[in-house]
Amino acid sequence: MLSVCRTKIYFRYFPTLSPRECHSTSTIFIRKNKPLKDPLSAFRWQGFKLEEYLIGQPIGKGCSAAVYEAAIPLSSNYQSSEDSKPLEGKSPDPQWDHGSVIQAAEAKPIQTNPQRAAFPLAIKMMWNISAGSSSEAILSTMRQELVPASGSALSGEYGAVACHRRPVFGKKRLEPHPNIIQVIRAFTSSVPLLPGAYVDYPDVLPLSLNPSGIGHSRTLFLVMKNYPCTLRQYLSERNSDAHLSTLMILQLLEGVDHLVRHGISHRDLKSDNILVELDSAGCPWLVITDFGCCLADENIGLRLPFTSWYVDRGGNGCLMAPEVVTAIPGPGVLIDYSKADAWAVGAIAYEILGLCNPFYGQGRSSLESRSYQEDQLPALPDTVPFDVKRVVKMLLQRDPNKRLSARVAANVLHLSLWGENILVPKSLNLDKMTGWLLHQSAATLLMDGLVDRSRVETKMKTCFLANLEYEDLWEAAFLLLSWRNHSV
Ligand SMILES: Nc1ncnc2c1ncn2[C@@H]1O[C@H](COP(=O)(O)OP(=O)(O)O)[C@@H](O)[C@H]1O
Ligand SMILES: [Mg+2]
Repeated sequence: MLSVCRTKIYFRYFPTLSPRECHSTSTIFIRKNKPLKDPLSAFRWQGFKLEEYLIGQPIGKGCSAAVYEAAIPLSSNYQSSEDSKPLEGKSPDPQWDHGSVIQAAEAKPIQTNPQRAAFPLAIKMMWNISAGSSSEAILSTMRQELVPASGSALSGEYGAVACHRRPVFGKKRLEPHPNIIQVIRAFTSSVPLLPGAYVDYPDVLPLSLNPSGIGHSRTLFLVMKNYPCTLRQYLSERNSDAHLSTLMILQLLEGVDHLVRHGISHRDLKSDNILVELDSAGCPWLVITDFGCCLADENIGLRLPFTSWYVDRGGNGCLMAPEVVTAIPGPGVLIDYSKADAWAVGAIAYEILGLCNPFYGQGRSSLESRSYQEDQLPALPDTVPFDVKRVVKMLLQRDPNKRLSARVAANVLHLSLWGENILVPKSLNLDKMTGWLLHQSAATLLMDGLVDRSRVETKMKTCFLANLEYEDLWEAAFLLLSWRNHSV
């Protein structure tokens, strides 16, 4: 019944917009959706050994790793010298041309912190307690961390590792995306003594560094761009207006949609695992990081056989979608993760919109994803646009069949942000929709080619146009219209 009704509305509103037209638009923008140059793009053959890096202060720590600021010097003499070993708290040497490292980055985020300019990179040193000490074992055990690795990240001196890449991944490589971290180098190396090690993670150090440590002597290192802060830190320092908040939620949805298209579920989305920098217009640019808990399996895709309690359902129990947290193992039981990350985005949206995450904490007002009812979700403030409120509510539907997919939720926000004039109640028609899409395409191509590639708005529009699919676009427009027609 519903589908008949939708089909009628579809023909009324979109009599000539065809799937083929959507497809040709998306083809143009898929090509445009190229990754930005990474901070090591000028160092093609470098950065595959720990000794090549200058390592500075710790910048973060999670459950499985410590992250340090880092830089790579230009002088090859210096790199091979004894001095190039990681030094505790060493400040950057003036002989190093950090400027050119920064210059290599195509996008120029606002660099407010001079220390960050000196250390454009971040190195994540995994704590290795159970993976053994061979490179193969480490890469196999920690393979999820490598899912967002760029094509060249592993192609350094470890030829053997490069060969192992397919079996190690068991998954086709995740194509770069503006809202997903890029791991630009990955290698194994001996665990060095880095600043803060004895205070922050003495137990996971190897015996050679701490007689009571239980860590292995070798581990995995991942090199990324050094981001100014996490989403949690960003939100703790400033209140964003409705437009910026909507753009932040949209970016997470675009990132999650990209993962779903590649058959990957992050499974540990939270504000600590989202990094932020500012684009050239001061808009927060979000990237999803920390793939250590992800589901990325070529054979099973997003449907995990849940045969026993020993099967790992991912991290972050508080933000586990209802269908994941309530699953009971048994023969033939599958957990479908295709909308699990979208649910987590709905929960994080509360933080972005200035409230506490309703699924954190122990107070009476906090909810549990396993048991909450949708009418218990806290009301969002009046300052939040109506469409955003509806999207958040629909992302937090318990039933995944009623929940919005990341793609449709993103489309709703795109139309809501930029398509207002085609959504006047009861007057949406195909000509307007086609005209609007053409206008968006032309404007985005111009912005991308002539004005400024590194703007979040341009990136988001490119994502929208690159992923334009007839059914998903229609579903989003239908939802918006039905909300508007009900609210008049
Ligand atoms: N590329 C980066 N730039 C800046 N800070 C980072 C970066 N990667 C991680 N961090 C910081 O380190 C913390 C831990 O990193 P994460 O990858 O989440 O490790 P874990 O797997 O242990 O949770 C993050 O919450 C963040 O504060
Ligand atoms: Mg983390």
